[in-house]
Amino acid sequence: MKPDLSVKIGKLKLKNPVMVASGTFGYAEEFSSLMDLKKLGAIVTKTITLKPRKGNPPPRTVETAAGMLNAIGLENPGIKVFIKDKLPFLKKIGVPIIVSISADNDSEFVELAKILNKTNGVSAIELNLSCPNLGTSRMVSQLDKATYRVVRAVRAATKLTLITKLTPNVTDIGLIARAATAADTDAISLVNTFLAMAVDKDSRRPKLANVTGGLSGPAIKPIALRMVWEVSRTVYVPVIGMGGIMNTEDAMEFIVAGATAVAVGTGSFVNPSASIEIVDGIKRYLQAQKIKDIEDLIGSIKC
Ligand SMILES: Cc1cc2nc3c(=O)[nH]c(=O)nc-3n(C[C@H](O)[C@H](O)[C@H](O)COP(=O)(O)O)c2cc1C
Repeated sequence: MKPDLSVKIGKLKLKNPVMVASGTFGYAEEFSSLMDLKKLGAIVTKTITLKPRKGNPPPRTVETAAGMLNAIGLENPGIKVFIKDKLPFLKKIGVPIIVSISADNDSEFVELAKILNKTNGVSAIELNLSCPNLGTSRMVSQLDKATYRVVRAVRAATKLTLITKLTPNVTDIGLIARAATAADTDAISLVNTFLAMAVDKDSRRPKLANVTGGLSGPAIKPIALRMVWEVSRTVYVPVIGMGGIMNTEDAMEFIVAGATAVAVGTGSFVNPSASIEIVDGIKRYLQAQKIKDIEDLIGSIKC
């Protein structure tokens, strides 16, 4: 039996539900000698901004128990260089390319969306409303009204499938997810990293130059699962789940909890081909369980 692994996210049809998370897979080229990129359900690019950004000073990453902290600060070459130098390689892979974008204000978000809307080879936009490392007092997705406003403005500027990526650093994730869907996002992606820090007791300094950073990896998985479960019961659009997915078992847990698709982030640092192994693992699991269609598992949790 060949199980059907395909899922729909807005207008996008993915041949399987496994993608790579923004910022953890570069622009894919670095991984091309290590794995068959064509096997992925989709690739989400590192977040792009209108102008190039240098990011934060080093050290920008630190390993923690069961995870890592990062404070990269959205280093990227800017949209022009991305389209000229990075997109041609991505286009050739033959899987949907989801371009993650961030901006300092609504009009920059709209400008980016308009550019991508007319760029050949872009399948969808992921609005990163959740970067914790930009030195601003609040992230857009910590506020329901701001989330609504940005999503609404971008929605009007593009026909591309629109995914909104939320921060978990809120007390009511359902409220923010409902604001994004009220503004017509096609899907919700969560979670981005948790605000955290690491301290060197001898130097009495923070281990990150940025002082705080975002925690990712297995340490956050149970909280991410709870948020994916909660949001998928609250909104009618697909949820893309991530947070500590290292192997097939983790991915299946997110799908059963309510995720239509999953993304591998920190897992790719530990094992660059983790995402591809998860695609094969899900296929084998469905075959062993005699489940014909992955859709039968999405949100199948009994509680
Ligand atoms: C080094 C690093 C860089 C990241 N950069 C981005 C980014 O540019 N844009 C974004 O939306 N998320 C970024 N993230 C967050 C991941 O996409 C993901 O949401 C988060 O790490 C949780 O998944 P994980 O536990 O599987 O890593 C980054 C994460 C890491 C570890």
